[in-house]
Amino acid sequence: MFRAKIYLWLLAENLKIFEEIKSIRDFLKVCSAKKKSVGFVPTMGALHEGHLALIKKAKKENDLVVCSIFVNPTQFNNKEDLAKYPRDLKKDIEFLESVNCDILFVPNEKEMYPEDEKEKLLKLDFGNLDKIMEGKFRPGHFIGVATIVNKLFRIVEPDKAYFGEKDYQQLIIIKKMVEKLKQPIQIIPCSIKREKDGLAMSSRNARLTKEERKAAPFIYMLLKEAEKFYPVLSPSKIKNLVEKRFSENKNFILEYFEIVDSSTLISLNKWEKMQNPIACIAAHLGKVRLIDNIKMQ
Ligand code: PAF
Repeated sequence: MFRAKIYLWLLAENLKIFEEIKSIRDFLKVCSAKKKSVGFVPTMGALHEGHLALIKKAKKENDLVVCSIFVNPTQFNNKEDLAKYPRDLKKDIEFLESVNCDILFVPNEKEMYPEDEKEKLLKLDFGNLDKIMEGKFRPGHFIGVATIVNKLFRIVEPDKAYFGEKDYQQLIIIKKMVEKLKQPIQIIPCSIKREKDGLAMSSRNARLTKEERKAAPFIYMLLKEAEKFYPVLSPSKIKNLVEKRFSENKNFILEYFEIVDSSTLISLNKWEKMQNPIACIAAHLGKVRLIDNIKMQ
């Protein structure tokens, strides 16, 4: 185990790797004394082009870029999903080196959740934001996300933090958290990266079988179809259409399809001026749960 770790650490030529909170903090303190701006990309590993796009953007906008890899147990409400979450640190380090990421923080569970803090989750009222869509089907998920992101923000103290728009609800909740806690961190949204056939890039795609992978672009195809009907059909008519199309496709079990306001996430019943509607979807394909969204314009 120890040898394997040394081998991994040796792989990293330019990337500085930290496992302990104290050591990364000490290092970043020196950087902050030198007035270096810090961009932060929190991840759960199994990195793909979507993550790399966040890191590339962060590299352009900051003196130093920190990426964290931590599969956060408190945001999983399904034990199997946590156990099967793809992990490949060797590949991740190679990816990070390829985009010249400066620092990788890769703590273990005890470091992030010491015994005395195990049960302590962030107590923050997100109103309706964490109760709908993902929040409805994954109870407690966003409190777990907010808890870990807050812990990471306190360790890294970034100037800017980068989040992909695929997890759109997460992005809105993190923005709300920063606002409520008055954290001086700019949250930068980054657009969804897609495979050539339209499937949104996600670490979970690695768990799809060959057949499922072929079927997966159906989700984006329907989002595009839904967008085409905007604003001719009402939100509820579009919703009915999408639900019907899913019920006819035996590969998928649709969890939700919602058209919401992109700032408040309030479900829309009719189109109004100055709205920025976004259609969000979650569906199961075999044992994998996929999410995606499209801004309707
Ligand atoms: O989006 C993710 O990968 C995770 O939810 C995050 C933000 C790294 C928190 O664990």
